[in-house]
Amino acid sequence: EKGGYDTFMEKEIHEQPQAVGDTLLGRTDEDGRLVLDELRISEEQLKNVDRITIVACGTAAYAGMVAKYAIEHWTRIPVEVALAHEFRYCDPIVSERTLVVSISQSGETMDTLMAVKHARELGALTVSVCNTHGSTIPRESDAVLYTHAGPEIAVASTKAFLAQITACYVLGLYLAQLRGGSYADDAAAVLKDLHEVPDKIAELLGSMDRVQEIARFMADTRSVLFLGRHVGYPIAMEGALKLKELAYIHAEGFAAGELKHGPIALIEPGQPVFIVVPGPDTPHGLHGKVVSNIQEIRARGARTLVIAQEGDTAVEPFADEIIRVPATSPMLAPLLTVVPLQVFALHLSTAKGLDVDQPRNLAKSVTVE
Ligand code: M6R
Repeated sequence: EKGGYDTFMEKEIHEQPQAVGDTLLGRTDEDGRLVLDELRISEEQLKNVDRITIVACGTAAYAGMVAKYAIEHWTRIPVEVALAHEFRYCDPIVSERTLVVSISQSGETMDTLMAVKHARELGALTVSVCNTHGSTIPRESDAVLYTHAGPEIAVASTKAFLAQITACYVLGLYLAQLRGGSYADDAAAVLKDLHEVPDKIAELLGSMDRVQEIARFMADTRSVLFLGRHVGYPIAMEGALKLKELAYIHAEGFAAGELKHGPIALIEPGQPVFIVVPGPDTPHGLHGKVVSNIQEIRARGARTLVIAQEGDTAVEPFADEIIRVPATSPMLAPLLTVVPLQVFALHLSTAKGLDVDQPRNLAKSVTVE
């Protein structure tokens, strides 16, 4: 049942190209335009949306954070991401023009369900991004956009995360398409790139030997930091969460720009730090800014584990290790950059002799508040 892999998590990591591909499948017409009739929300209603709130927990919330950058950029609709348990009790501002998008693999997370119910009571339009057919959250929502990752057994989410990000991209690109004009043209170009991502993930999965080795040598590590910026910021936090869950190691993800506002005090000789580097063509010179961050922490003795695009030579002087990912457009990078972090956590957990699929104290779906 594990398809020749030692653990479900490893199997599910390798199913990621398919999870992304299947989530895109059947959602475009022959002209390459997105068709989302399955939502059963009228175009008028969607065009009326003036604000989006994403509610989710854990890894699903990090998918939501990635989505915020992308959807705001593509549609210019303001997007807020709220942890579902915080949203429910913070007297949220919601109107009939608010689209509340919940993200949940299981469709049974009580915190997320309560947030959706509350949003509906307040009059919002609710869409569920969900991986489990017939589960509670889609039933309690106005509409559902299923992720097609297939059943996810390992407690730590991997392929569902990639499928969630993909579904949110689809939703954002669809809203951009509805806006028409240059929004639609830009969306069409991104969609083309998105269709190439499954092959790139497969290629990346074929080059993870060094990551596995690095993890093996780090079995005694007590703390790992993760830095990212822009869409790489939620990926840094996801990398840290995977490590906490699977290897019981203290791990923290930061926005790279925050470094000098505090976290840089944590850097001491030998401190391992993963840095998720934006592609060199990311707007606003963010690539250069993150390269400077690597330089700063390296100068203080950090062990820099750099995740960078193929061909990015600027990181070379400051990296102790470089993990290469295939190039893609800046917003889509998370579908690639998170993969080495998943593989790292998996192999560190294995090196410590821990139960990869069933980490202590955790349940696959959290059905209590
Ligand atoms: O089933 P859901 O997507 O609603 O679950 C949300 C979180 O509980 C889940 O992502 C959790 O953080 C995972 N253990 C992450 O690996």
